[in-house]
Amino acid sequence: MKEFNLNFKRDVTTKICIGDSIKFNLFDDLYINERVYGYIIITDENVYNLYKNTTFKTFKRNLRVLDIIKIKSDEKMKNLDTVKSIYDILLKRKIDRNVGILAVGGGVIGDIAGFIASTMLRGLNLIHIPTTLLSQVDSSIGGKNGVNLGDVKNLIGSFYHPRAVLIDTTFLKTLGENEIKNGIAEVLKYGIGFDDKLFNILLTQKEDIITLKPTVIDKIIEKSVKIKIDIVRRDEMEREGIRKLLNLGHTFGHAIESIGGLKSTKHGEAVSLGILIAAKISMNKGVLSKEAVEKIKEALVMYNLPIDIEKVNFKYLKKYIVQDKKVIKDEIDFIFINKIGQCSIQPVRVKELWQKKLFLN
Ligand SMILES: NC(=O)c1ccc[n+]([C@@H]2O[C@H](COP(=O)([O-])OP(=O)(O)OC[C@H]3O[C@@H](n4cnc5c(N)ncnc54)[C@H](O)[C@@H]3O)[C@@H](O)[C@H]2O)c1
Repeated sequence: MKEFNLNFKRDVTTKICIGDSIKFNLFDDLYINERVYGYIIITDENVYNLYKNTTFKTFKRNLRVLDIIKIKSDEKMKNLDTVKSIYDILLKRKIDRNVGILAVGGGVIGDIAGFIASTMLRGLNLIHIPTTLLSQVDSSIGGKNGVNLGDVKNLIGSFYHPRAVLIDTTFLKTLGENEIKNGIAEVLKYGIGFDDKLFNILLTQKEDIITLKPTVIDKIIEKSVKIKIDIVRRDEMEREGIRKLLNLGHTFGHAIESIGGLKSTKHGEAVSLGILIAAKISMNKGVLSKEAVEKIKEALVMYNLPIDIEKVNFKYLKKYIVQDKKVIKDEIDFIFINKIGQCSIQPVRVKELWQKKLFLN
């Protein structure tokens, strides 16, 4: 098992463990050091049904579990109504600040539970146990949480760091192919934007990756987590700009996701299209070579991720790009790909970004 610490200026540390079959013994530490006497587990119905006789039994054996709140597995549940219903349960249980929140699930659960933990009683102890590839490499790290408002993604939220993130890669064994693909899109983002070696692993070891060979899957998760840690450490609240680099492929990706009414296009598929659009814009602006764009396309296709950007509904896309919370005075910090393994940020006028020829050719 590998262990890292993510330290922040305000005396906050997140302990991150990555391993195959973590025994969750870290709880002993947290239990004593943080004076947490009991945990409310927030999970989704799928995850609970899959792990009720194993992992959840371990939790009950090792922790004082005060309640297990099961949410329907659906992005549409990531809203303020769900948050309110959880607040009500916590109020009924008369919880105090020595109760911890244990988020067990994918990014949807992590985002909801993180928001609850950050707002209830002005902050409860939070532990993430991410169970999807996407949540293991991305959403559980870095303290962002939140819910959607209407069909606009992640509009309400906060920065709130968990005390620990326990990444047990054995959870991935029950994950469907589509969910693996979803997480791979984020790993590709790390490779394309930050680490050409990671990109090469993805290009050359596809079989080992999709069959979840432990040595390879642990390696790509560890590399991804380290990239994210390194960036978050330098720009915790996304103020310096460096953290914005993690939005590579997400300006268009989030908009594409929103067009589908938060349902039809999965996050990973939207990110795949967003990465390709970012690559094409970078090429048409003269910062990325055509060969690199072709390599990026090859990798996306290899993992069965979509590249058909001409099918995107541009009329609606424009509406969502314009209302992106990152647009300030008609400008957005766009993430360009300079070469594989390196990206940069530059303000671009939304109108300029909007020229179809920039990304269709
Ligand atoms: N906070 C952040 O920094 C951040 C970053 C990226 C994405 N996100 C958010 O994350 C969300 C997407 O997360 P996701 O892709 O994990 O989706 P998800 O949480 O909806 O999980 C996907 C599906 O996998 C199921 N599942 C979870 N673990 C499983 C397991 N081990 N075995 C079998 N099935 C399992 C779930 O029940 C669900 O049906 C989006 O809402 C996105 O906005 C947040």
